[in-house]
Amino acid sequence: MTDTKHNLSFDDWDEANFPRPAETEFDRVVERALSRRNFLGSVLAFGSGAAVMGTGLLKGSTALAEGHAMAKSRFPFKPIGIATDHEVHVPEGYTAKVLIRWGDPLFSEADGYDVAEGGPAAMSDKVFGENTDGMELFSYQGHEIIAVNSEYTNNDVNLPAAQEGVPANADDVLKLQQLQGVTVMEVAPGADGYEVVKDSPFNRRIHHNTPMTIAGPAAGHDLMKTEADPTGTASLGTMNNCGSGRTPWGTYLTCEENFNGYFGSTDADAPRPEGYDRYGIGADGWGYDYHKHDARFDYSKNPNEPHRVGWVVEIDPTDASSTPVKHTGLGRFKHENAACALAPDGRVVVYMGDDERGEFMYKFVSNGTYAPGGSTEGLLDDGTLFAASFNDDGTGEWLPLTPESTGMASLAEVLIFARIGATTVGATTMDRPEWIAVNPHAIEAYCCLTNNSKRGGSAGEVNAPNPRESNNYGQIVRWRPHDDDHASNTFDWDLYVMAGNPDVYPNNPYGGSENVTAGNMFNSPDGMMFDSNGLLWIQTDGDDSNEEDFAGMGNNQMLVGDPMTGEIARFLTGPKGCEVTGLCWSADRRTMFVGIQHPGGSWPDGSGLPRSAIIQVTRDDGALIG
Ligand code: FEO
Ligand code: CA
Ligand code: CA
Repeated sequence: MTDTKHNLSFDDWDEANFPRPAETEFDRVVERALSRRNFLGSVLAFGSGAAVMGTGLLKGSTALAEGHAMAKSRFPFKPIGIATDHEVHVPEGYTAKVLIRWGDPLFSEADGYDVAEGGPAAMSDKVFGENTDGMELFSYQGHEIIAVNSEYTNNDVNLPAAQEGVPANADDVLKLQQLQGVTVMEVAPGADGYEVVKDSPFNRRIHHNTPMTIAGPAAGHDLMKTEADPTGTASLGTMNNCGSGRTPWGTYLTCEENFNGYFGSTDADAPRPEGYDRYGIGADGWGYDYHKHDARFDYSKNPNEPHRVGWVVEIDPTDASSTPVKHTGLGRFKHENAACALAPDGRVVVYMGDDERGEFMYKFVSNGTYAPGGSTEGLLDDGTLFAASFNDDGTGEWLPLTPESTGMASLAEVLIFARIGATTVGATTMDRPEWIAVNPHAIEAYCCLTNNSKRGGSAGEVNAPNPRESNNYGQIVRWRPHDDDHASNTFDWDLYVMAGNPDVYPNNPYGGSENVTAGNMFNSPDGMMFDSNGLLWIQTDGDDSNEEDFAGMGNNQMLVGDPMTGEIARFLTGPKGCEVTGLCWSADRRTMFVGIQHPGGSWPDGSGLPRSAIIQVTRDDGALIG
C-alpha cells in the first residue's frame, strides 16, 4: 500500500526512518544447496556466475514429469490472462459481484457513503471499515458471520477538508480511528447472492478505541502500564489489522501489523525508550497525527502505550458484547496473520510472520491441549514462542525465545521485544514474511515471502530460503515438521515457488521456478489460504505497472496452486491499483469472498471514488468453489 503523505509503503518508510544495524553475515550456501532435493523431488539448479544466488528450484525437474506425473489438473477452470483495467475478472463460468464497500452501513441509523464529503465521524463506527484485509467466516446456530479487518485509511479521501489528509482536530482523528480495526457482520443469501444483514445482533465494529483485555505473560508488567491503566491489563483499540486466523474453537484472530505509525510525540526531544528503534516508533509518526489530538498516542506523555499494540487479538464473533483479548504469549511484532494447527497430542500451534525486511517467522506452541468443548483458557498464552532458523541443507529448527535463551530479564520482556529476542538467538532473517497457511490435507505449512528489493544491512542477507540478492518478485517457503507433528522443534523445508519473470529473465533465477510461466506470472505473493480440497490460493500485493521487470504480470491477482504438483494458475485479476487480500467461503462453499484493498480508478461503482470492497465469487452452475 502507499501513503499519500509520504508516498512510501509502510516497509519503505520504516526502512528509511529506522534502519537496523547490520545483522551477522549468513554463510552463503550455494554449494551444499546444489545437491539438495526439494519436496517435489527436483534438484536445485542454480544459474552460473558468483552473483547468481537464485534457484531454478523446480526447473529441470524430472520429478514433475516422473514421480508426480503432472496428472490431470485439479483446477476446474480455464486460467485467465492478465488484466490492466479497472475491473475484476474471473474465469468463464464464474461470476463476481460486490458484497459490501467501505462506508456501506451495517446499521440502519447510518446513511450510505457520501462520496463528496466522506461519512460523518459520528457514524464512522456504524459502517463497513476501509481497506478490507484478512477475514474468516463463522457458522453459528444457522447464522453466517464474517469477521474482517480494515487495515488502514486513505486520509485524504476520508478527510476531504483537511490539508493533504492530515487530521486537523480530534473529530478527524476519531473518524480515522473508527474506520479501521475489525468489522463483524452477518451475511445471508438474498435474491441475487449474499447480502449483509443490516442491524443483525452480531454486527459490530471494533476499532482504535474499543476496550481490550491484555492476557498472558506480559499482562500487568510495568512496561504495559499507563496512567489510564495502572494494571497493565486493559488497553484501548486494535490497529493496523492485517491478516487473520481462526482458532480450533471458532474465534477470530486479528493481527496488528504496522502499529508503529500511529504513535508520535508532541515533544521532539522526548526520550525514546528501548525498543522504539527496532519497532519503528518516532516523533513524527506515519501521517495519522493522532498524537497531536489524542494524548494516548503521544509517547512523550504515554511512553508505554506502543507496547500495548503489535499483538494478536482474539475476538468472539458470536457475541457482540464480548471484550477482545490481546494474547501476549504470541509475541509483539508486526504481525501479518496467525495460522493455527493442532499437534497430535492436542497442543495448539500458531504460525506467524513478521512483515518487515530482515525480520523473522515465529511459532507458538501451547503448554495445554485443546479438546472440543473443553476450556480454552491460556491456550494462546501459556506456552513457548519460537523463531525459525533455516539451514541450507533443507532442514531447520525452531529456536525457543525464553529469558535463558535471550538473556532478557523476564518472559514478559522477551514477548514485548520478541524481535530483539529472535535476533539474539540467531533466527534466520527473511524477505518480509506475510501470510502463513497450514495445509489441511498434509502436515505442512507455507509462508509468503513477499519481496525484498533493498537487500543488505537491516534488510537481511541472502540465505537459503531467501536466495536472490535483489528480490522484486518474492517466493513461498514450505516446511514439513518432523514426526508429522506441528509442535516438533525441527522440520524440513523447500521453496514451493519462486516468482519471477521468465520472459524478461529466461534461464535465470529472476525468471522464477519451473512452475512459473509466461501464462501465470505474478509478483509479491502476500495473502494465502488453503481451501477444503487442499488447494492453495495465493493473493498478490505487488508492482502492477506491467512494465520492465513486471511486464506481462498485469494487475494484482489471485492464483491457485496445487501443492502436490506445483501447478499454479491465475483465477482472478483485480482492478488496477488494488491489492487482493482476504479470502473466506460461505458455509456451503458455493460462494467465495475475496477482499479488494485500495483499488484505483473508480472501482467498483463508477462514483469517482475508488472504494475497497469484498466481492463474492460463484460458479454459474452453482457447484462448490473450494
Ligand atoms: Fe498488511 Fe504485510 O501486509
Ligand atoms: Ca498483507
Ligand atoms: Ca504486502
